[in-house]
Amino acid sequence: MSQKIIVTGGCGYIGSHTVVTLISNNYDVVIIDNLSNSNKKTLERITKITGTSPHFEHIDLKNPEQTKSVFKKHNDAVAVIHFAAYKAVAESVEKPLMYYRNNLLSLINTLEFQIEEGISNFIFSSSATVYGAPETLPITEENKVQRPFSPYGNTKKIAEEVLEDLVKTSSNLAAISLRYFNPIGAHKSGFLGELPNGIPNNLMPYITQTAAGIRKELQVFGNDYPTKDGTPVRDYIHVVDLAEAHLKALQRLLNKEQDKPLEVYNLGTGNGYSVLEIIKSFERTTNTTLNYKIVDRRPGDVETLYADTSLAEKKLNWKAKRDIDDMIASSWKWEENLKNEQ
Ligand code: UFG
Repeated sequence: MSQKIIVTGGCGYIGSHTVVTLISNNYDVVIIDNLSNSNKKTLERITKITGTSPHFEHIDLKNPEQTKSVFKKHNDAVAVIHFAAYKAVAESVEKPLMYYRNNLLSLINTLEFQIEEGISNFIFSSSATVYGAPETLPITEENKVQRPFSPYGNTKKIAEEVLEDLVKTSSNLAAISLRYFNPIGAHKSGFLGELPNGIPNNLMPYITQTAAGIRKELQVFGNDYPTKDGTPVRDYIHVVDLAEAHLKALQRLLNKEQDKPLEVYNLGTGNGYSVLEIIKSFERTTNTTLNYKIVDRRPGDVETLYADTSLAEKKLNWKAKRDIDDMIASSWKWEENLKNEQ
């Protein structure tokens, strides 16, 4: 019989791609999502790709009664993958309480009721933002964790601290925290991808929406950084590679292979690309010309971030396989499909 996995935030960008990977690997998936920043249509998209409809629980993890009852109902699950969270950096600066309330209460309720039901495995959706402005590159898991610039980022740091404390007392809990670098790309079918609400904050959806004519012009935030061409460098990673890393982390937990109750892994490719390099690759890969202009720096941006991925390679037996052209081409295919749907 298939093992049951609870995926919170499974209708979101990374969550939905992970659900597809899990179903394709014969897991039985229960999605918990309040659809606050996602769409029920994603369930149809997942079904279209996999031929299987995941179970869906439309509840809010901030609500302890609802959370308790859903975990009771699915107490035959063997693991929880927790994606559910708000993720817009600028919005979190404007509305810190909203971010702390949502991201931390949903984490606490999830952990509390999964432990109560004896579900001992937990995977957390963390971020490279916990490294702040790194002192050394590439970033290893040994790099110093620093107070992130935004409340959003700080919820990730605090969540990892909650897990550190919890594994000391909850002897059954086994957790893995995955620190993502910059996820972009979409499922190769073109049926699943990132669906930002309103004006995108992140580079890739802004680029695809500009090329599709939804946005007039891309603003490049600063070209006076001490990098190869003056624009910030990031480690962009294909969302399907990321999804596959969750599968590997899950297998490590289920096989009881961890070296310690809480493990932390960087998920990136190890390659850094500047904003201008991404724009040029986009233009080349899609044969389009992008309307962009250089403007002032965006507050809080770090000049360069890229991962040392050797720990994930060694312990999770995982390495990103998809290159930047694949990331860009799949993002564009998704954007074009969305346009045709309307
Ligand atoms: N950028 C632009 N124009 C835009 C959007 C972005 O020039 O319209 C630039 C940014 O200045 C940055 C780069 O593109 O140099 C990447 O920006 P993103 O917003 O796509 O990604 P960030 O690296 O800022 O953010 C990501 C995640 C966050 C996480 C943060 C820090 O999206 O969740 O990394 O790790 F908090």
